Amino acid sequence: MNFSGKDIIAIEDFSKEEIVYILNKVDEIKEKKNILNGKLMASLFFEPSTRTRLSFEAAMKKLGGHVIGFSDWKDSSVMKGEDLIDTIKVVDGYADVIVIRHPQEGSAKIAAEVANNPVINGGDGTNQHPTQTFLDLYTILKTKGTLENLNIGFLGDLKYGRTVHSLTYALKDFNTKMFFISPESLKMPTELINKIKKYSECYECTDIFDVVDKLDILYATRIQKERFMFEDDFKRVQGTYKLDEEFLKKARKDIKIMHPLPRVGEIKHELDFSENAIYFQQAHNGVPVRMALLSLVLGKA
Ligand code: NCD
Repeated sequence: MNFSGKDIIAIEDFSKEEIVYILNKVDEIKEKKNILNGKLMASLFFEPSTRTRLSFEAAMKKLGGHVIGFSDWKDSSVMKGEDLIDTIKVVDGYADVIVIRHPQEGSAKIAAEVANNPVINGGDGTNQHPTQTFLDLYTILKTKGTLENLNIGFLGDLKYGRTVHSLTYALKDFNTKMFFISPESLKMPTELINKIKKYSECYECTDIFDVVDKLDILYATRIQKERFMFEDDFKRVQGTYKLDEEFLKKARKDIKIMHPLPRVGEIKHELDFSENAIYFQQAHNGVPVRMALLSLVLGKA
């Protein structure tokens, strides 16, 4: 398989075979050094980020590459009224690969259409976050030994959560039983769940305790204040879920708790020390997984 020059915009652009191939490359590439010598990554973050931006930077630098970019659009010419297309056309002439995070759904696709070099979507609004999906899948594979036949719960903001949108789409090909647990107002988008239902058994509920004893993995997410138009709507659902030791007692002994982070109270710190909590490991996996993705699209894997 050859991914040289390929954009990474949406998880549906990758077949199951391609996903598995990429995940299997990670352990080989994480041992490499200097294979991206002389390569330059532009990191264009129009939305806040800690993990995605820094793990991409770390990945590039560990392989001998360099990084330019901004982490606040107010530092860019967008502040002067420049549009996204012009920004991308210019940066495309400076760098070998562009990583972009932007609040607008579809923005990464637009960037990919105007850039000659590969564009990687670091999150476009509420839509997709494909590189997070690769690291989530890698984390599941490493902890469970397989991606097949798992019962996975998705908890929190399933309406706006792009990490859940990408991950569930990828998992539909792995015979996953999916449990969607959210407040009524933050359910999975109808169009997406209808697509997933064609391949996977899906259950929707509002109370985590209805399904807690069935789960191999619980993928928790934050309720995303910044996606709400009205603060009152956010306040109505804020703090709906709090995973704590009581929750663990009711769960399967070997349940693994994942979270793309940042968390804002939905997982109590008391769980951090349990073997069930794998969210920091998950965050750390961002570096080797992004090393693999960068090497592949830059034709150096
Ligand atoms: C997520 C994101 O930005 O979509 N974070 C991440 O990339 N690890 C989740 C979130 O912001 O809640």
